[in-house]
Amino acid sequence: MSNEKATLSVGDKTIELPIYSGSEGPDVVDVRSLVQQGLFTYDPGFVSTAACESAITFIDGAKGILLHRGYPIDQLAENADYLEVCYLLLHGELPTPEEDERFRTTVNNHTMIHDQMSHFFNGFRRDAHPMAIMCGVVGALSAFYHDTMDMTDEHEREIAAFRLVAKMPTIAAMCYKYSMGQPFMFPRNNLSYAENFLQMMFATPCEEYTANPVIAKAMDRIFILHADHEQNASTSTVRLAGSTGANPFACIASGIAALWGPAHGGANEAVLTMLGEIGDESRIEEYVAKAKDKDDPFRLMGFGHRVYKNFDPRAKVMRETCHEVLKELGLEDDPLFKMAQKLEKIALEDEYFVQRKLYPNVDFYSGIILKAIGIPTSMFTVIFALSRTIGWFAHWNEMVSTSYRIGRPRQLYTGPSKRDYPKKK
Ligand code: SDX
Repeated sequence: MSNEKATLSVGDKTIELPIYSGSEGPDVVDVRSLVQQGLFTYDPGFVSTAACESAITFIDGAKGILLHRGYPIDQLAENADYLEVCYLLLHGELPTPEEDERFRTTVNNHTMIHDQMSHFFNGFRRDAHPMAIMCGVVGALSAFYHDTMDMTDEHEREIAAFRLVAKMPTIAAMCYKYSMGQPFMFPRNNLSYAENFLQMMFATPCEEYTANPVIAKAMDRIFILHADHEQNASTSTVRLAGSTGANPFACIASGIAALWGPAHGGANEAVLTMLGEIGDESRIEEYVAKAKDKDDPFRLMGFGHRVYKNFDPRAKVMRETCHEVLKELGLEDDPLFKMAQKLEKIALEDEYFVQRKLYPNVDFYSGIILKAIGIPTSMFTVIFALSRTIGWFAHWNEMVSTSYRIGRPRQLYTGPSKRDYPKKK
């Protein structure tokens, strides 16, 4: 907390507003009392608004810093695995060996979904977008777990966390298998989290399947890099849904829906679509010009970020991972990767992007890795949602385990003033 105050002069009024300091990042001005003065703040897109207090993730956009409970993302990507990061995001500290063992065993014991849920998939067309299926199936989890719906009970919240972290890879892989017309593969609890996901995606009942360890490591790193990112659009959606007291499965489903948009989690799919549309390195300049043209809705997907005005630290790790995977698969000359690198070089030297501090974000390289692994573009955001489930849950849990109020923003009304209904002639 700080003893400083901000002073706001409005007409003949002088309003004093408390200023609070966090452990990192900008101070905040508490504007809650403005409503008593007949005033609202105005901040469409919440560019300058801290909607909550949180201790989970810190981002410094100017310096390209991303910390999860204080640990830098590149160190976590290098030294931890996804389940260890899940524990960290949920509990605030890295697990002891005993805590790690218990956490992994419990996740492993919850990887199957209720057999009745497999019937949901049959209601969808085979060509349904897997994000549509995932939204529906995850929201429906609440129909199966009436025993863990008391969100004031810490133990029930913990069980819900285990169920979601454990079942998201199973549901994600089922979305893929359904679209392929292949039988669902059961989770194998003797495998690591990433190996298990890959086997549910690519194994068939007809033959043995062993995940390539380099690919499994890359998959796990992609999970880590997408795990959480402060109060982004989908996490803010989960918090707003949670503030009404909705159950965690419904709240996570709302986060999946928000993530789907191409300006957010849908960008990784949009990057591949964009690279396919550009088609050839010779057309990169043409598309960079389109991205700069205010009259053209085209934007360079995978570039820019609301917070990062420097390199997205996740993009650097993702680019290294891209190199590793393409080398392992003998695809170093992958034309998409070469085009992406050329596009990145051109954009980073172009005044328009430099002036607006538009750098590659987490989505720029992830799609190239996923495509090289053999995952279709329609599954990219599903994998982002799988990874971000822990972040969404950690923020939901942080909110519901402390005092909170229902989120209810106000507005600047510009519609018609009161008028009477015209008398019937
Ligand atoms: C994610 O919030 C998070 O943390 C999200 C995320 C997470 O982990 O949860 O990091 C994941 O969503 C990453 C972002 C993925 N989206 C994309 O790659 C889509 C392309 N990027 C843009 O749509 C855009 O950069 C946003 C949405 C990411 C950020 O939008 P802002 O902050 O509202 O920025 P803006 O639209 O106000 O842009 C500022 C200027 C504008 O030009 P001017 O009006 O100043 O002349 O930069 C331009 C924009 O036109 N601009 C771009 C651009 N991004 C911004 N111009 C061309 N190509 C782009 N990609």
